[in-house]
Amino acid sequence: MKKQLMFAALLIGVSAFAQAATTEQRYKQSCAACHATGVMQAPKMGDKAAWAPRLKQGEATLLAHAKNGFKMMPPKGLCNDCTDAEYKALIKYMSK
Ligand code: HEC
Repeated sequence: MKKQLMFAALLIGVSAFAQAATTEQRYKQSCAACHATGVMQAPKMGDKAAWAPRLKQGEATLLAHAKNGFKMMPPKGLCNDCTDAEYKALIKYMSK
């Protein structure tokens, strides 16, 4: 019984960590390489003016461009295991 409780506590701890790790860490691990500095015309993190015309394309298009690539934006943006939800969160995070 004690062992089961400990296991449950561990699982909760791990999933809480995984959730807390998402957007900011994903950004730093993957997108920041280009979106922090704006190399190759990448819209910069937090640069509302650069993101505004892109956001007008709509979330579905931006998601597709993040996953499939768009001009110099590489497919998946160096994140091989990001989910759709994570890409959407990353786009919101960078365009705020
Ligand atoms: C190797 C550099 C690089 C990395 C890494 C990168 N991007 Fe990009 N990204 C670009 C460039 C360059 C553009 C601008 C493309 C253009 O419009 O010419 C861009 C554009 C975008 C756009 C806008 C596309 C559009 O339709 O206007 C989105 C959304 C985006 N990136 C998401 C991401 C996400 C999310 C990540 C991390 C998972 C990421 N990018 C990682 C280079 C990168």
